[in-house]
Amino acid sequence: MIRKQIAAANWKMNLSLSQAETLADELMKSEIKLDIHQQVILAVPFPYLTAIHQKVNHHNHFHVSAQNCAATKNGAFTGEVSAEMLRDIDIQYVIIGHSERRAYYHETSDILVEKINLALEYGLKPIFCCGEPLSIREEGTQNEFVAHQLKEGLFHLDAEQMKHFIIAYEPIWAIGTGKTASSDQAQEMHQYIRKVIADQYGHSIADTVSILYGGSVKANNAEDIFSKPDVDGGLVGGASLVASEFSTIINSLKSIIL
Ligand code: 13P
Repeated sequence: MIRKQIAAANWKMNLSLSQAETLADELMKSEIKLDIHQQVILAVPFPYLTAIHQKVNHHNHFHVSAQNCAATKNGAFTGEVSAEMLRDIDIQYVIIGHSERRAYYHETSDILVEKINLALEYGLKPIFCCGEPLSIREEGTQNEFVAHQLKEGLFHLDAEQMKHFIIAYEPIWAIGTGKTASSDQAQEMHQYIRKVIADQYGHSIADTVSILYGGSVKANNAEDIFSKPDVDGGLVGGASLVASEFSTIINSLKSIIL
């Protein structure tokens, strides 16, 4: 059984269209070697989804993701983008529950459950984010905090839906701060997340779930973090906006055959 190793870029609300296209072109041109179980996902702003999808579509290992989707199916929700619309333009992935959305747009677990259900209904693969704030890390209760997020957000899913799911562990204190979790801290939490999933769904399912680390992943620390057995790649913000940085990060994915 092979678990996917994934380098995911979260461009957030950055780049002009021409900068975005240049970045995608540069990534496609760079020396990237990917095995069958390794992949790259670019989570780009809504207006660029089609343009970037067209650029990377011919590359088997490259996929495009939205950064969010609506919690409702369709209707009078001005400014929202539905899971069905994303499916219609051939987008395969969607980030759900990023800490910035939880914090700035008040997305509760109930809302995230609606989004996950709609994403799955329309054949999108959610990348579910979890992670604790600094105060919780300082208290030492990060495991309980993250387990709670997983239970509230995901445990209504059945085993088949959990299989090959993607989870991103992003400690909030490490996002955009340059303060990355140490590779040992990342491994400790990822192992714990896999155990929480195994307790609910069994080891054979938990072992298929890709758990990405996010929070100040850079070209110079990716290899160390990704080398850990339960870290299946990263969800990368700032460093994913620079082609040379992100291609090094992609090339830091480990080869793993379970
Ligand atoms: P940075 O890599 O900029 O810390 O952002 C991480 C993140 O939030 C990815 O989703």
